[in-house]
Amino acid sequence: MKDHYAVIGNPVAHSKSPDIHAMFARQTGQDIVYDRLLAPLDAFETTAKKFFREGGKGLNVTVPFKREAWKMVSPSDVSFGGVVDAEAVNTIKLVNGRLVGHNTDGIGLVTDLEQNLGFLIAGKRVLLMGAGGATQGVMHPVLEKRPDLLVVANRTLNKAFSLVRRFQKFEHFTQHGISAQPYAGLADSQFDLVINATSAGLSGEMPPLPEGIFEQGALAYDMVYGRDTPFMVFARKQGARAVDGLGMLVEQAAESFFIWRGVRPLTAPVIKKLRG
Ligand code: ATR
Repeated sequence: MKDHYAVIGNPVAHSKSPDIHAMFARQTGQDIVYDRLLAPLDAFETTAKKFFREGGKGLNVTVPFKREAWKMVSPSDVSFGGVVDAEAVNTIKLVNGRLVGHNTDGIGLVTDLEQNLGFLIAGKRVLLMGAGGATQGVMHPVLEKRPDLLVVANRTLNKAFSLVRRFQKFEHFTQHGISAQPYAGLADSQFDLVINATSAGLSGEMPPLPEGIFEQGALAYDMVYGRDTPFMVFARKQGARAVDGLGMLVEQAAESFFIWRGVRPLTAPVIKKLRG
């Protein structure tokens, strides 16, 4: 019987993960099945556990269950690499009857930035917009790359403050610290890398960014993929290079695939194919 994997979420019909993993499997000669698994909003845990009881080997977890997935695996079953601080799990692997949780989102982002886009984070001024799960999931991997400074901006300021407080223990990775700011407080600042980790782009909106925040040669990165978001359009008008999050999606999938199968797929041909 082929090893069985799936992406679990709600909604999940739009997920590109089955296509990505099918391409990885073909490319590496791994004989696996990868499905979509729709969990009722109030039944993530029972749906996930049933999948594993019936022989499933691994799950990717997507919106809105990453935090529940983190709670479902016990602390001893959470791998290092930022999962503890992310408080979110996007990859579960069955290992000797135990469900082990990982978070590959941050690694996916950093790999896309550094290897695919050639943007090195070290010494750069970084602005992260949003203070929800998406930001939380990538804070540690971004900080580990030693930016000059990291600012978290959010509409609801106290969420940014509490997030920054939780990650203060990693401030030593930076030259000039981690801080929280309202959007209006950014008017006199410039950044080399601006990451949109808000869900604003999904509804055709963008965070209220002041003009002039992009440093010469800056990169604007939107975690939303498959469309030019208002943030990306804004950034280009301001002279920045703007990209969507498709590369991050493929890179986080590659890391999951490696965790499950011990084989690292090539990501460039998959990104190219998905871009059409
Ligand atoms: P996720 O897990 O995807 O991060 P979330 O936890 O619901 O989702 O967080 C969504 C983030 O997008 C939040 O930071 C939210 O800001 P608030 O905390 O102020 O709600 C941000 N967001 C959503 N729509 C936005 C918009 N139009 N402008 C600015 N920020 C927005």
